[in-house]
Amino acid sequence: MAGHRTLEPGRLVIASHNPGKVREIRELLGPFGLEPVSAGELGLDEPEETGTTFIANAELKALAAAVASGLPALADDSGLAVDALDGAPGIYSARWAGETKDFAIAMRKVHEAMEEIAGEEDSDRAHFVCALSLAWPDGHVENFEGKVFGHIVWPPRGEKGFGYDPIFRPTGHDISFAEMEPAAKHAMSHRADAFRQLVAACLKG
Ligand code: IMP
Repeated sequence: MAGHRTLEPGRLVIASHNPGKVREIRELLGPFGLEPVSAGELGLDEPEETGTTFIANAELKALAAAVASGLPALADDSGLAVDALDGAPGIYSARWAGETKDFAIAMRKVHEAMEEIAGEEDSDRAHFVCALSLAWPDGHVENFEGKVFGHIVWPPRGEKGFGYDPIFRPTGHDISFAEMEPAAKHAMSHRADAFRQLVAACLKG
């Protein structure tokens, strides 16, 4: 596609210290002749996420890893945005789970915040966002943002998935992300949407 830089086969840093994310990104990149290596494996520091948008945070993580390693780097920043909460927890999705990363607590916080404004029409509308940023050591960056729309359900349902999956029911489905088979979730998720855009723009199949 015009205007985008192609990512050539070879080593690519996955700028994340989250093993779940690294595994998912490795699987998605498998068919493209890339050799993913994680920031953790290279001993790279994790920069502070000081951005005010998903894209800004993905970009600062990708650039820091690319510059430190001398290799292209890919970072993901994602979260849940509830319309009636003005997009919260948003970029603070991980932080709502606290030091212990307890998503039962984070999901309850979402529920309690929504109860305060309950009754308003469509107050359960929400979406997941995934920003992907691909950076090169010379400072060039390509950004992509994927979304999946749905509704918040309460109580949490299902044991599969992670994070806020048990309280998110995608539009057009009767079950939550945590009740779905992983392949079904991955086919429609915000991360898959962002990846499709990245593949079309920057990868040679
Ligand atoms: P990040 O590591 O700063 O990008 O934080 C992302 C957070 O958003 C995760 O810790 C999850 O809580 C949440 N999140 C992102 N993607 C998903 C998803 O697919 N399902 C459930 N929660 C998600």
